[in-house]
Amino acid sequence: MVSGRAWSRTMITTLKGRLGAACAEGASETVSGKLRTRETPSLDATRPDPSSAACGKGLSYLIYHCEVNGLLWRTLASVSGMDTFSIGGELEVHRLGFGAMRITGKGIWGPPDDPDEAKRLLRRVVESGVDLIDTADSYGPEVSENLIAEALHPYPDGLVIATKGGLRRTGPGQWPREARPERLKQACEGSLRRLKLDRIDLYQLHSPDPQVPYADSVRALKELQDEGEIRHVGISNVSVDELHEARGIVEVVTVQNRFSLEDRASEDVLDVCEEAGIGFIPWFPLATGRLADPGGPLERIAADHDATPAQIALAWLLARSPVMLPIPGTSSVEHFEENLGAARIELSDDELAEIGSAARG
Ligand SMILES: NC(=O)c1ccc[n+]([C@@H]2O[C@H](COP(=O)([O-])OP(=O)(O)OC[C@H]3O[C@@H](n4cnc5c(N)ncnc54)[C@H](OP(=O)(O)O)[C@@H]3O)[C@@H](O)[C@H]2O)c1
Repeated sequence: MVSGRAWSRTMITTLKGRLGAACAEGASETVSGKLRTRETPSLDATRPDPSSAACGKGLSYLIYHCEVNGLLWRTLASVSGMDTFSIGGELEVHRLGFGAMRITGKGIWGPPDDPDEAKRLLRRVVESGVDLIDTADSYGPEVSENLIAEALHPYPDGLVIATKGGLRRTGPGQWPREARPERLKQACEGSLRRLKLDRIDLYQLHSPDPQVPYADSVRALKELQDEGEIRHVGISNVSVDELHEARGIVEVVTVQNRFSLEDRASEDVLDVCEEAGIGFIPWFPLATGRLADPGGPLERIAADHDATPAQIALAWLLARSPVMLPIPGTSSVEHFEENLGAARIELSDDELAEIGSAARG
């Protein structure tokens, strides 16, 4: 029996190789004919290949369009087998999202070197079925939100764009906090305008501001929600106490904290989220630290799954909790495709235990 990972890889590699070559080189009718007769029938979304049964739960088929010599080819270029999570009980998203912080310039400052490539990546994200994109007014600043609107507006149904306010940018790599209520309201207005939205599905308070009582900042988001500018409220970079405080003011549907194989300092916050059905969005999810060193457990387990350590790090997160919504970020289509493949990896209980104890060691 073919494993999900092997199946996915074989299909994607085959198609990418053949279609890519065909598109790039302006394929002849003969090449097109081969693609149609040999590949398309068994991969058509309406007639799943029998080997898909080996791919596990929640398999969805995605259609990719490629024009070769004037012919439009519909074919399967990517497959996702992800579980879903319902944010706030109503926004159902696949559990592997996309972090749009890395599509900006160096130091998350200014435009990227190649804005067209960033937009191509964003379109690929949506085509692949990923329906949760995380951004913030501070990424660029404004660059990430503007690129999202330029690449994706009008947005497809079901796409959840989660943005944030509460930080100021004073230069590359500098992130002072700024969560005064009036400033948060201005920030939200700016995000609505840049994203070309009437209402933001998920608006997150980027971080507590030590200069401002936390309750005041959270109350500003509650007011924005009452006024209809925000559908759901999330918070970020919080302790358990701050989470409890926020929940006393507004319904909190997601928490976004730093969390990875390497950094589990927010395990207590995750536990509260799991118990309350709150989505937990781990940022910097690909951090593996020394676990990925040559000869380490991650490298061996990755080899057993024909995967990369980055994919195993994401698969571990997805297995860690049903409320976990990783948003790996990248500026590259290749890394994005690789990260997407993590959703198809099923780690055994022994592997999860080994990775877990190695990370703590
Ligand atoms: N709430 C907060 O305070 C906060 C803070 C930071 C981030 N975030 C959010 O969390 C998202 C993810 O965090 P993050 O970007 O810091 O961390 P991350 O997703 O764990 O790592 C991103 C880094 O890993 C590289 N990368 C991505 N995929 C890879 C792969 N398959 N193989 C090798 N390298 C790979 C990227 O470089 P390439 O571009 O070269 O692929 C980038 O340098 C951000 O996009 C943002 O939306 C939130």
